[in-house]
Amino acid sequence: MLAMPIADLLRERIGLDPASLGADAIASAVRQRMQAVECGRVEAYERQVQSSEREFEELLGVVLVPETWFFRGCAAFELLRHFVANEWRPANPLGTLRVLSAPCCTGEEPYSIAMTLLHAGLPPTAFKVDGVDISREFIAKARRAEYRAHAFRNEGQEFARPYVIHAGDKIHLQPEAVASVEFAAANLLDSGALQERGRYSVVFCRNLLIYLHTRAREQVLALVDRLLEPGGLLFAGHAELLQRPGYRPMTPLGAFAYRRTDKQAPLDGVDLQTKASTPLGRPSRPPSHVYPPRLSPAGPARKSQRGIVVPPLRSEAAAGEESLARARELANAGRLVEAASLCERRLSADGPCARTYCLLGEVCAAAGDLARAEDCLNKALYLDSGLVEALVHLSLLAHKRGDAHAAAHFRQRAARLSRRAPKPRLSKR
Ligand SMILES: C[S@@+](CC[C@H](N)C(=O)[O-])C[C@H]1O[C@@H](n2cnc3c(N)ncnc32)[C@H](O)[C@@H]1O
Repeated sequence: MLAMPIADLLRERIGLDPASLGADAIASAVRQRMQAVECGRVEAYERQVQSSEREFEELLGVVLVPETWFFRGCAAFELLRHFVANEWRPANPLGTLRVLSAPCCTGEEPYSIAMTLLHAGLPPTAFKVDGVDISREFIAKARRAEYRAHAFRNEGQEFARPYVIHAGDKIHLQPEAVASVEFAAANLLDSGALQERGRYSVVFCRNLLIYLHTRAREQVLALVDRLLEPGGLLFAGHAELLQRPGYRPMTPLGAFAYRRTDKQAPLDGVDLQTKASTPLGRPSRPPSHVYPPRLSPAGPARKSQRGIVVPPLRSEAAAGEESLARARELANAGRLVEAASLCERRLSADGPCARTYCLLGEVCAAAGDLARAEDCLNKALYLDSGLVEALVHLSLLAHKRGDAHAAAHFRQRAARLSRRAPKPRLSKR
């Protein structure tokens, strides 16, 4: 048998874009497995992986990224709760909500979904959550539903407490949180994957697309198209903003959720009020009343070079946080002019701030002022080179300009940072 380089094999079978893992990741995984099976020649190992399903799975165990935790990207779960309590349940008082978590890794995401649905007032009999992942090993762990405290590193989900049982250094879940969750191993790239499943009202497909090459991403999204019902919600990862006909971004922007739109899709008060009010939607001319005036350049009250910004006093910092949160609320409500001017005021009062520039960039992009958006996002990155949101939005804007190379560059930087920093990274300013 002709040996196929491992990177090509992974590309073909699981859709992996080897560059997304970093330069040496695959080579070091291969070295690790060659040592484990005592194989001295790369060609011989390549042949072994190609012919042995078992060794291929062992290799996947080293290559795949099992990074996940409970309530990761918690805004998504809050939006899910809102959707279920205010829209889905009133429309389906006797129905069963079907949710897909794919990929689900070791189960933290589907169980977080289940706890959120219980919190939204659904009894376990009123919903079913399916978790799917390519790794049998991860699926077996998910079924065991046994975790370490670190899996609950996100704080603030007080409502989840009643479903969590501490047993020594382990954590288990109460029966009602696991009763309606089922798992299956499947490759989302298989054309027959999940063939027998019906449609879902909600699909979580988070933190997979960033690892895939373009064709594989399209295959996975085609699967989502097949499985998600019209009007249903798709949740993507924060580095995976979607530009896809038939999907409309929803607020809050930080939930990275999309409404599957078609003629029957209900109008909802949660979606962005203007279709142009997001960098993610297809460009269309925004209504004039939401188009922000050309904003005057934010005159930096303090020096803008990295590292020499004087930290504000505590009370100032708290006020700043509040006004930034308020600006985001306004942006999420589609009140772009007000959001932009609040950001501007904050910048001129407090000096340069990465997160404010980032939000202003998002707002300008939402309003269609793409040049100004890029300018603000670049300033945000200059102040904080680890600001993933800024990278993600710059990637989208580059994509819109048709600069695929820059788009990929920003996306890869965002993906690298996301892998490195499991906790949401908060810039100091
Ligand atoms: C980083 S985890 C994301 C888990 C979860 N969705 C989250 O956001 O926390 C990525 C998962 O994708 C799975 N995966 C990679 N390629 C896949 C494929 N072709 N089909 C199904 N799952 C895949 C991996 O096994 C891994 O568990």
